[in-house]
Amino acid sequence: MKSLTQILSEKLSVAFEACSYSAELGAVSLSDRPDLCQFQCNGAFAGAKLYHKAPRMIAADVVDKLSDDCDLKKIEVVGAGFINITLTDEFLLSFVKKLLEDENLGIEQSQKHETIVLDYGGPNVAKPLHIGHLRSAVIGESLKRLAKATGRKTISDVHLGDWGLQIGLVIAELRERNPDWECFSPDFDPDSFEGISISSQELNEIYPFASQKSKNDEEFKAKARAVTAQLQKGDPAYTALWREIIKVSVADVRANYDKLNVSFDYWYGESDAEKYVPELLELLSEKGLMHESQGAMVVDVAEDTDKVEIPPVIIKKSDNSNIYATTDLATLIQREHDFNPDEVWYVVDGRQSLHFTQIFRCAKKAEIVPEDVKLIHIGYGTMNGSDGKPYKTREGGVMRLSDFYDTIYNAAYERTAQSKFSREDEKAEVARKITVATIKFGDLVNYCMKDYVFDLDKFMAPDGKTGSFLLYTIARVNSILKKAEVNESFDSKQIYSDTERDLLLKIALSGEAYSLAYREKAPSVICESAYDLASCFSKFYHDNHILTEEDEDKKNTWLSICTAVKTVIEKQLDVLGIETVELM
Ligand code: ARG
Repeated sequence: MKSLTQILSEKLSVAFEACSYSAELGAVSLSDRPDLCQFQCNGAFAGAKLYHKAPRMIAADVVDKLSDDCDLKKIEVVGAGFINITLTDEFLLSFVKKLLEDENLGIEQSQKHETIVLDYGGPNVAKPLHIGHLRSAVIGESLKRLAKATGRKTISDVHLGDWGLQIGLVIAELRERNPDWECFSPDFDPDSFEGISISSQELNEIYPFASQKSKNDEEFKAKARAVTAQLQKGDPAYTALWREIIKVSVADVRANYDKLNVSFDYWYGESDAEKYVPELLELLSEKGLMHESQGAMVVDVAEDTDKVEIPPVIIKKSDNSNIYATTDLATLIQREHDFNPDEVWYVVDGRQSLHFTQIFRCAKKAEIVPEDVKLIHIGYGTMNGSDGKPYKTREGGVMRLSDFYDTIYNAAYERTAQSKFSREDEKAEVARKITVATIKFGDLVNYCMKDYVFDLDKFMAPDGKTGSFLLYTIARVNSILKKAEVNESFDSKQIYSDTERDLLLKIALSGEAYSLAYREKAPSVICESAYDLASCFSKFYHDNHILTEEDEDKKNTWLSICTAVKTVIEKQLDVLGIETVELM
């Protein structure tokens, strides 16, 4: 269905044209002065330059054409030539009704059958998930839902870091600690391998230990390098052990993502790209793109217009090992083969922007993907502590995602003591949902690229711009509807107050927020729209005594507005990846 601004822009465009002005001048936007009008059109100013005529005169011509449009309560020229517009209540009500009946709730659907591959999460096997992986998961999950909600086909891939030196370090350390494991014996038989017994906690402890050790111990570092190279060549014993490590680590990662309501269609790893490396190398050499530089094989990607130096992409290092760029390029071959995407979005730390500039250029040069496929790095800033530096543990170490989650969960659980719940499992479930809402809304409300400061009290405030506030709003609506024992579908004939009109206008505009959010790849737009609606509902709720209202028509109208608010906010939260609670 068409959005309100589209409908109004069309009306204005027809009027501009009817007065022999360009139709393009008819673009309508939301009013900058909601106290004066709901919408405005500033086209007369651009028209003044084109037609050498005073903007007020142009605006007056246009307004004259629309003076008896029965959808408009008011259309007038103000100031030097602004056109101010306000809808009739009948039109606003009928639009809201249509939006609520629309299967997509007024969210504009793409007609282009686009397929978007989203690469987010990016955890590294055998390394504990840390706070840096949180933003990728939260933003990626929401962008996937946003793309789906606007009619795109999405394919999500976690792109596990399962192939680098970190695995070599872990295996080398395991070997030193458990020399008698069958996988380290020369007559190891993979077919009879029964696996290893190791917990994810142990694995999470081994990596930082081995990484530190390699910094002071050259011999150990060389061993880890050798293990990595042998693993990448397919050594059967290391491969068997590597599979075990992945199994344990992935189960742990999955559990963490499950708690956060983050999911993926594919759990491919960097290792899955290995079989596309020969094709990559062939393609690059066939096209004459690869050359030797200081023992390594590289592809030049600098362009004349570069303002900063863009170094060549290293495809093979001097020791013949593949690196991050190789894997990303080979993965693109796989994605092109399997998914034939229109766009590939990489939701990865903004600090990796040079890497993505390099691989995107190389991929286009080598024609790994067709010219019109959009490769987009959606970089994000860091989550900081109150000192303005990346969020750390109290001791100054890297904050594990699970510890961070637990801190918020404990605070959320405390809150359930004052709730209606007495059963332990109910309390736990509500606490989990508050935790997810707190983390996700607190993150997504910021524009992705920006760093932000995490502050537990501020992020959990029940009456702030927070996930809790939105969950409380839904719970409040549920409780009203439950007490009234109705679930009115929207069929209001009349608007009784200004707050109500504001609320209905916000509902009417909720659909178009998704198009803007999609264009800007900014879930923050949805957060703002949901918060705006919830705040307006709060005012509406305080101004009116819905349940005790004696005028039946009024009461029913208000109840149907409650249902509408619930429907719209629930959809917004769903796109943000936030689950709601029935009652709180
Ligand atoms: N594992 C990487 C890291 O921790 C992130 C992977 C992002 N995705 C990609 N296709 N490069 O930095």
